[in-house]
Amino acid sequence: MTDKYSIIGPLYDFLASLYSARQIDQCKTAMHGMIKPGMKVLFAGVGHGIDAIKAAELGAEVTVVDLSDTMMKKFNRLVSGKSFARQIRQVHDDILNVDEAGRYDIVFVNFFLNVFPEELMIRILAHLTGLAKRKGFVVVGDFSLPAGNRFRRFIQIIYWRIADLLFWLMAGNALHPVYDYAGEMKKLGLKIKTIKYYRFLFDDRYYSILGQKK
Ligand SMILES: C[S@@+](CC[C@H](N)C(=O)[O-])C[C@H]1O[C@@H](n2cnc3c(N)ncnc32)[C@H](O)[C@@H]1O
Repeated sequence: MTDKYSIIGPLYDFLASLYSARQIDQCKTAMHGMIKPGMKVLFAGVGHGIDAIKAAELGAEVTVVDLSDTMMKKFNRLVSGKSFARQIRQVHDDILNVDEAGRYDIVFVNFFLNVFPEELMIRILAHLTGLAKRKGFVVVGDFSLPAGNRFRRFIQIIYWRIADLLFWLMAGNALHPVYDYAGEMKKLGLKIKTIKYYRFLFDDRYYSILGQKK
C-alpha cells in the first residue's frame, strides 16, 4: 500500500506549528483535562502524536491508530526513551478496520477528518463514535467553521484552502470546504458539552469540540 504521507509526513508537525503559530498544537490537547489515569483513550490518525504522548503521560491507557508507515515511524521516534505508567498500544491500520465498539472512554479525532471527502468523513466519524463507550466522549479538533462578516469569512476560507491544496498535492487528501464537525456530531446523537476556540491572525481558526454519547 502506498504511504500518502511519505513526503510531507516527516515535516507535518513542523509545518503545522509554523502555519498556525502553534495554535494547532494547543488545540490538540485542549480537552486533556478530561483524562484520568487508567482511562482508555484512542487517537485516530495519530500522526506524530504529541497529543497521544501527553495523554500517556497523564496515565491513560492509550491506543494510537495510523495508516502511514512514515507517521508511525516518526511517532516511535518521539516515544522512544520515554516511559509511561501504561504502555502505548500502536495499531498500524485503516481506522475502519478497528473493530472495538464501545471500548474507549475518549476518542480523539485531531485534524483527521479533514483528510477525507465528505461522505467518507461522515462514515468515519460515525465509526469513531461507535468506538466510544456509552456516555463516553468524542473530541474533534480541527479547522473551525468560517464565521464573522463576509471579509473575515473569506480570509478564513483562503487560510483553510492553502492547507487543503498543499495536502491535496502532497498527500492526496480531499479538496473540500471547511466541514461543520459540530453539526455532524450532533446528527450522530452526540451532545456538545464544550467548544474551545484557538485564534490566529485576528480570528478563530481552530476548535476542539467535546461531544458526549448518550
Ligand atoms: C492530517 S494528519 C493529522 C495527524 C495528527 N492527528 C495531528 O493532528 O497532527 C492525518 C493522519 O491520518 C492518517 N490517516 C489517513 N487516513 C487514515 C485511515 N484511513 N486510517 C488511519 N489513519 C489514517 C495519516 O497517515 C495521517 O497521519
